[in-house]
Amino acid sequence: MDFKQEIKDRANIVDSYMESFLPGEDEYPEVIYKAMRYSVFAGGKRLRPIMVMEACKAFGGDWEKTMPFACAIEMIHTYSLIHDDLPALDNDDYRRGRLTSHKMFGESMAILAGDALLHHAFETMAKACVELNDIKYNKAMLAIAEGAGVHGMVAGQVVDVISEGKEIDKDTLDFIHKNKTAAMLIGALKSGAEMGVACDEDIKKIERVGELVGVAFQIQDDILDVTSTFEKLGKPINSDEKNHKVTYATMFGIEKASKIVEEMSDEAIDILKSMGGDMDFLIRLTEYLIKRDN
Ligand code: IPE
Ligand code: IPE
Ligand code: MG
Ligand code: MG
Ligand code: MG
Repeated sequence: MDFKQEIKDRANIVDSYMESFLPGEDEYPEVIYKAMRYSVFAGGKRLRPIMVMEACKAFGGDWEKTMPFACAIEMIHTYSLIHDDLPALDNDDYRRGRLTSHKMFGESMAILAGDALLHHAFETMAKACVELNDIKYNKAMLAIAEGAGVHGMVAGQVVDVISEGKEIDKDTLDFIHKNKTAAMLIGALKSGAEMGVACDEDIKKIERVGELVGVAFQIQDDILDVTSTFEKLGKPINSDEKNHKVTYATMFGIEKASKIVEEMSDEAIDILKSMGGDMDFLIRLTEYLIKRDN
């Protein structure tokens, strides 16, 4: 089977569970439920939940039990996109092929839809922790909280925003990428591994894989911002130039930046190959991500 199809099949599983974890939209006040679902069910790639499921499987765990955590990380990711697109941040009008939340529902409702998704993610995970009553699920929730929080994604977004229009150096750019993007991928892989049977050394290795794949993923996102099309991405191109952001593409040029993406992915694959467990899917996913066009 072609790998794109394998991802699609898993994304469909994520979507059916997501349907069961999100409230319907016929409850009062309907607008918030509509806004949450509008952004979630807009066709994201579902990479983070797939990483949760697959890291758990790689370490011999039961992937079905990961679904509250897999869906929660996608809720958090979707909230981060809604807020990232707001006029005060990147001010973008399209996301996942549709109008952004604030264009559709207004700015106040978009802020609240983000808040709602973030809190619903933790409600979903906390409920699962209570039901499953095994410390490994608490550890999985902690890994996701750390990835999303003020020492992770939020810190990266902060430095991204305060660096707009400034000539930042490579260390600052790496801080941004490691935190705004890689932290969530580290959280996804680590939480999945925690729900399987991974030793401390494997957890350390999987964190490094998440960092490499995450930074490479953001560099590729910055390259696609320049080289791709709105039709392929479902979001505006040249958003970074509009916001005067320094990226790997502006710092090194497209060719060198692509080379760095390849090198980081190769390093991640070498680490995956050195690990216990069945890393085949995660290796193919890493290979796929460097070639992605959306
Ligand atoms: C977009 O993430 C934001 C970045 C961290 C670059 P994705 O490229 O995974 O977006 P979706 O979830 O598929 O929409
Ligand atoms: C955002 O990076 C990463 C997030 C934490 C949401 P970008 O601002 O480059 O993401 P896109 O290009 O809007 O998806
Ligand atoms: Mg941004
Ligand atoms: Mg953006
Ligand atoms: Mg971008």
